[in-house]
Amino acid sequence: MDTAVCPVSEAAVQRAAALLKAGQVVAIPTETVYGLAASAYSGAAVRRIFEAKGRPQDNPLIAHIAGLDMLRGLAAGVPRAAYALAEAFWPGPLTVILPRGPLVADEVCAGLGTVGVRMPAHPVARDVIRESGVPLAAPSANLSGSPSPTTAAHVLADMDGRVSLIIDGGQSAVGVESTVVSLVGRPTVLRPGYVTPAQLGEVLGAPVGVAGAVTAPLAAGQKPESPGMKYRHYAPRAAILLVHGGQKAYIEYVNAHAAPGVWALCFAEDVPALQVPCVPYGGANNPQSQAAGLFVALRKLDELGAKTAYAAMPQTGGVGLAVYNRLLRAAAFRVIEV
Ligand code: TXA
Ligand code: MG
Repeated sequence: MDTAVCPVSEAAVQRAAALLKAGQVVAIPTETVYGLAASAYSGAAVRRIFEAKGRPQDNPLIAHIAGLDMLRGLAAGVPRAAYALAEAFWPGPLTVILPRGPLVADEVCAGLGTVGVRMPAHPVARDVIRESGVPLAAPSANLSGSPSPTTAAHVLADMDGRVSLIIDGGQSAVGVESTVVSLVGRPTVLRPGYVTPAQLGEVLGAPVGVAGAVTAPLAAGQKPESPGMKYRHYAPRAAILLVHGGQKAYIEYVNAHAAPGVWALCFAEDVPALQVPCVPYGGANNPQSQAAGLFVALRKLDELGAKTAYAAMPQTGGVGLAVYNRLLRAAAFRVIEV
């Protein structure tokens, strides 16, 4: 199939909605990362997403809505906590896990009794959802296992010939995927994102836990709270090694390991002192900039032919936890203490 990349326009939104109504898959911009959308109410359409991505069948998808009215039939028994979080953070980069409703296709939930729901803030995403008239299941629009796409060019690199339409909404502002919080049982963050555990706790009036698998590999045989935790994610072809230490120790370590194919995935401030080629992913004290720059930098390392990249350690609090989680997974949990 031919893949068209269209700039944002009313006509592009209408074309996307028509394709979605016909059971096709369309790539759309969101404020977090680009999504690969299909009707959450059509099993056949959702199966096309899994095919296009090469995604494991047991990894559920997030259903995207444009208004709270769309919760009806999608989720069942929506708890008060969900409305409180919706009021505080929707539209925005937060996904809540709820008991599933009768209308959502089994394929979206991948056999679980729950469904992830998010109301994105990006106006194009919301227009496409409204025009198509149904919640849209949409995972990140990358091939399964590769870094999430934050530009239409990233989507095209992975999805050329696999989807008929990509809407180009420019660079995703947030740059990492939404925070996923389970509201089935004790509120627990399953995937950290731009909305932090502390912000969630403030709205809910009680501390919100963070699943152990966010910062540690699953033990052999351990059942993950979220199927996505099982998979090696965000991994470029280059081997990523996360270097845990201060700026001086990081620079010394990387310079001592200079060799052909060795790169630094560093902070902007590190660039002048590094003696290996480098790709900065943000400012050392600016976790928002790191979130916005990480996936771009991971893809750039591959384009530039890096074999090994030593990554500078982000802060692990606040938004930094999302950056740290993605880097740990890109590094397959290989951390070097310096
Ligand atoms: O920001 C985002 O969330 C982006 C944009 C496109 O909205 N979407 C996204 O989707 O990141 P995806 O499929 O790449 O990641 C969804 C994550 C996976 O780790 C999946 O396992 C988890 O959410 N998830 C989805 N439904 C779940 C459920 N019912 N229970 C537990 N985890 C769930
Ligand atoms: Mg993904």
